[in-house]
Amino acid sequence: MQESENKLIEAATMARERAYAPYSNFQVGAAVEGESGDIYIGCNVESASYGLTVCAERVAIWKGISCGEKRFKQIAVVVDTEDLTPPCGVCRQIIWEFCGDVPVILSNLEGKSEIIRMSELLPRAFDSKFLK
Ligand code: THU
Repeated sequence: MQESENKLIEAATMARERAYAPYSNFQVGAAVEGESGDIYIGCNVESASYGLTVCAERVAIWKGISCGEKRFKQIAVVVDTEDLTPPCGVCRQIIWEFCGDVPVILSNLEGKSEIIRMSELLPRAFDSKFLK
């Protein structure tokens, strides 16, 4: 891992501590690096009406967009699972929308990590180029 990747993992690990996940007890942290170089963090936020839950990845991206970022360079996702947890299907679509084919850094709390590209996680993606 390079320094910028470690920094993103560290930010996502810190965000995970803030997860509001009383129903699933599955805490997720995410961090995205905007084109400006700024980092935005997110955690999952659940609701008693379960379907209203928002994943950590989307919280981080919404924060960046609302702060004026247009695109993001990379994203990290941290979960306390032995097998590294990848983003869910909905988040893959949103990551593709705002990040494109970026590296996705997966990590757990034991320091196990892996980098996988979005085009591997979401091959043949649907996006705005089909809306012409
Ligand atoms: N979750 C995320 O935050 N990101 C994902 O990509 C997978 C799922 C959250 C949603 C819910 O709060 C909990 O994990 C269990 O599904």
